[in-house]
This record gives sequence, structure tokens and C-alpha cells, in this order.
Amino acid sequence: MLIIFVSFWVLLGLGVFFVAMRGGPRGAVEGSEIGRPQEGSKAGQRMVTLVVVVLFAFGLAVPALVLSFNGAHKAAVAVGGLHLNAEQQQGRELFARSCAVCHTLAATKSVGRTGPNLDVRVGQDIATPAGRKALVLGAIAEGRARGFGQMPALLYQGKEAEEVANFVATVAGRH
Ligand code: HEC
Repeated sequence: MLIIFVSFWVLLGLGVFFVAMRGGPRGAVEGSEIGRPQEGSKAGQRMVTLVVVVLFAFGLAVPALVLSFNGAHKAAVAVGGLHLNAEQQQGRELFARSCAVCHTLAATKSVGRTGPNLDVRVGQDIATPAGRKALVLGAIAEGRARGFGQMPALLYQGKEAEEVANFVATVAGRH
């Protein structure tokens, strides 16, 4: 982001400098000379055109870059400034689709109340990342019915179960 803004001002500065060197001084001098007023105004026109073109180009380029940058950036950022890799982003999608209805998890802004709050049950109760992941994987594989309601087994399997477990283990309780 900084680079874009810096290069904007550097390029604008260079453009103005360039124009001043080419057209500015010479145009001004020649324009003031008797009998050759055309040169100056031509250079002036060129300068105006150049400035307009430069401003227009940046008017398009800067917002476009900012938009695309922001989009990519935000998808990877989770609660607490955590950075999610592609696999964990996928896990977030899957969690939102099949787990969020029953579970509260700050990272997905879900507030389900059928099952336990995973920020507490996974994030606070379990100390290690490996332990958290194992608990989530186990719950997905076996389901749960320990007298606190029903969680169906095998909502996800294989790679998808891994991705969800990875995501939950990473973000639970981090807010
Ligand atoms: C239909 C509602 C429902 C859905 C959907 C659901 N759960 Fe659950 N979940 C529960 C309930 C209820 C419990 C507690 C059951 C019990 O302990 O008796 C639970 C427990 C858990 C636990 C804690 C397990 C433990 O041993 O303490 C984890 C972790 C969990 N769910 C993760 C998930 C994930 C990940 C998904 C999505 C793949 C999911 N749940 C989908 C209802 C649901």
C-alpha cells in the first residue's frame, strides 16, 4: 500500500519535473520572445495533456490496486490478526456451511447455541494446538451425544475434516 502511494507521488513529481524541463522554461522564454508566441502555448498544452493523462491513469490504477489488495488481504486475516493459509480459509468456509448453525465461534461470527461454544470448549479448555485439532477431528468423526444434545457424525471426512479441524484449532479462543 505504501509503495503505491510513494510511487504515485514520485511519478507525479517526475512528470511535472520532466514537463518543466522540456516545455516549461523553454516555452516560457520562447513565448516571451517577440514573434514566437506559439511555442510556449504548444508546450503548455502538452503539459496539460500529460498531467491530465497521468492523473487519469492513477485515478484508475490506484483504486483498482487498493481494491484488489484489500480483497486478497482480508480473506486471509482472522480474529486477533491471525493469518490463515489457503487450507484454513477453506476450513472457514466449511465451518460456516455445516458447523456454525450449532456452535458459537468468534472467528466466523457464528452464535449457534445447540452445541458448546468452541472458543471456550476448544480454545480455552485445551492447551495445545495438537490437542485442539484432535478434539475437533474426533468430534467430527464420531459425532457427540453425551447428554448435552446431538451432533451428527461424519459431517466431513478426510481432507475436509482436516481443514475444518485445522481452522478451528487455529482460531478458537483467539479474539
Ligand atoms: C446439529 C448441531 C451440531 C452441528 C451441525 C455440529 N455440532 Fe458440534 N456439537 C453439537 C453438540 C450438541 C455438542 C455437544 C454434545 C455432547 O457433548 O453431548 C457438540 C460438540 C462439539 C465439540 C466438542 C466435543 C467435545 O468432546 O467436547 C466440537 C469440537 C464440535 N462439536 C465441533 C463441531 C464441528 C467442527 C462441526 C462441523 C463439522 C460441528 N461441531 C457441527 C452440535 C452440533
